[in-house]
Amino acid sequence: MTKYTRPLPNIEVVIQDIEDALAASQKSRNSFTLDNYKKFGGLFDGRSLRRYGGFEFLKRNSNLDYSGDEPIMRSTTTELKKVLFIPDCHVPYHDAKAWNLMMAAAREFEPDTIVILGDFADFYAVSAYEKDPRRPNDLSDELAIVEEKLDELDALGASKKIYICGNHEDRLERYLISRAPALFGSVTIPATLHLAERGWQFIQYKRSFKLGKLHLTHDTGTAGINAHRQSMAAFQGSVIIGHTHRMEVSVLGNAAGAPQIGAMFGWLGDFDKVDYMHAIKARRDWVHGFGIGYQESNGVIHLQPIPIVEGTCVVNGKLIR
Ligand SMILES: [Fe+2]
Ligand SMILES: [Fe+2]
Repeated sequence: MTKYTRPLPNIEVVIQDIEDALAASQKSRNSFTLDNYKKFGGLFDGRSLRRYGGFEFLKRNSNLDYSGDEPIMRSTTTELKKVLFIPDCHVPYHDAKAWNLMMAAAREFEPDTIVILGDFADFYAVSAYEKDPRRPNDLSDELAIVEEKLDELDALGASKKIYICGNHEDRLERYLISRAPALFGSVTIPATLHLAERGWQFIQYKRSFKLGKLHLTHDTGTAGINAHRQSMAAFQGSVIIGHTHRMEVSVLGNAAGAPQIGAMFGWLGDFDKVDYMHAIKARRDWVHGFGIGYQESNGVIHLQPIPIVEGTCVVNGKLIR
């Protein structure tokens, strides 16, 4: 029996081994297939192995010795975890074309981690501001569309999902405090959107999550062109924020050779539905887009802003339209 080594020197050896094992075992008692393996680009980890029953299959059928309790084999090209960053969508006032383009890019990208940067849902119905009587104003209708969009994100199959609360989601809590305090604590964003069942981790408004070496939060109290730099100063580290609907990236040098990055990745809302700002200023300052990142095992995340330019964007070197 060939001894399994870590990391495996040649991923082709493993693929050949799996093909041999599959051929030898005509009917397997589990759903593991070579396609499952290839879907993960040669990345074998405990999660994907368990999900598809691959480890058990290999232990029974393989010619290689996978006797380690968590066999982790990584080809050199798949060491990075892929992260998708979704900025303010303001569902149901999202821009359908921009959303669909982001989703097409996300399916191409196949993220391991998805981060919602807040203001994913608009929560217009519970806003404390005066409401436009021409607009539908039904919370359950709004929530139904928000859940549809979450369904689409869930279908991407990411193993880690972080939902950062924005000031718009926070409208629900403020509404409860001022109008229905008896319901406070019983009616919550995570429960309303079934986030736990969907596998999303929810981060309260004005709090942050640390993904690797990167801080994630909706805002640190400012919304201008320098909000990402102000947030870097607040965290004294690398940070991504939402809230501003602008796309900006700053990289600050560091004498130790560990530059810090601050970024905001635009928004995916509908410009025609903005009633809180002059339309021309919104179009001048705000950018449709999103962000992607590649996370090293040491926690460094290499970031890329993905602006939508004349209805297209590029991910994985592919033009998405
Ligand atoms: Fe927003
Ligand atoms: Fe916001």
